[in-house]
Amino acid sequence: MNLNRSLPCTPMESGANKIVSAQPSLCLCNVSLQLDGHAILGEISLHMPQTGITALIGPSGAGKSTLLRCINRLHDGWQGSIELGGQSVRETDVDSLRRQIGLIAQKPAVFPCSIRDNVIFGLPNQQRKSVSDESIRQVLEQAALWREVETRLNDDADTLSVGQQQRLCLARALMLEPSFLLLDEPTSALDPRSRDMIEHSLQSIASQIPLLWVTHDLEQAKRISERVIFICDGRLIEQADASDFFSRPERMESREFLRWNVCDCD
Ligand SMILES: Nc1ncnc2c1ncn2[C@@H]1O[C@H](COP(=O)(O)OP(=O)(O)O)[C@@H](O)[C@H]1O
Ligand SMILES: [Mg+2]
Repeated sequence: MNLNRSLPCTPMESGANKIVSAQPSLCLCNVSLQLDGHAILGEISLHMPQTGITALIGPSGAGKSTLLRCINRLHDGWQGSIELGGQSVRETDVDSLRRQIGLIAQKPAVFPCSIRDNVIFGLPNQQRKSVSDESIRQVLEQAALWREVETRLNDDADTLSVGQQQRLCLARALMLEPSFLLLDEPTSALDPRSRDMIEHSLQSIASQIPLLWVTHDLEQAKRISERVIFICDGRLIEQADASDFFSRPERMESREFLRWNVCDCD
């Protein structure tokens, strides 16, 4: 059964699909992916609005990380169409695409250099030389890290705690002025205080750009998201406003997942 098969691909035609945006930032149409001969994603269609947090939820192995990797073309063998701001990601230069789409992974990956050099790591060489202290301060403030590192920007980044490193990764992504952020369980390895700080700064960033945030934590999804996309077994089951999804999910699979945190979609 493929519940997504009949979903339309243009936002204005949306029927069962409850996320409607006149000018979606990200638009997927019938995206499918096979890896090693196995169907991992099946005809996923979705639209995201210009700002705000959309939680991407589903059981372990549902294909959430794989979907994010298709969007920024870490996986390139998918079929269908993915457009960002009306532009096909397939036709966008990969380096430029990854500057537009920041990805924050579950475990922070800092480079073996100073905090300052980590912040500017993604910039082209020429820009790195001319970057101002003020812009470094701004992104570290946005990532809620400035106060903790303002006197130690030349220290090695690996002297930071894991929670601070994750905020450093966020600052590094923000330095590239992304138009979209993908977040793959960015707080699952963090203590509650660091989690709250990341949630808070991402909520503020989401007032300017859209965020697609994978979380296995339903309480977090309730706290942070305005919209929810629920996928299972590589297929989109339901997408809806978060308040609707959590209070009156339409699909039986969604109800089961919310109740038991499991889903049997086969
Ligand atoms: N490179 C790969 N080759 C084959 N199968 C893969 C590969 N990467 C992921 N998978 C499979 O794709 C499915 C979805 O994985 P993933 O996207 O990591 O799930 P989630 O993030 O929802 O937990 C899993 O069954 C996983 O084993
Ligand atoms: Mg994953």
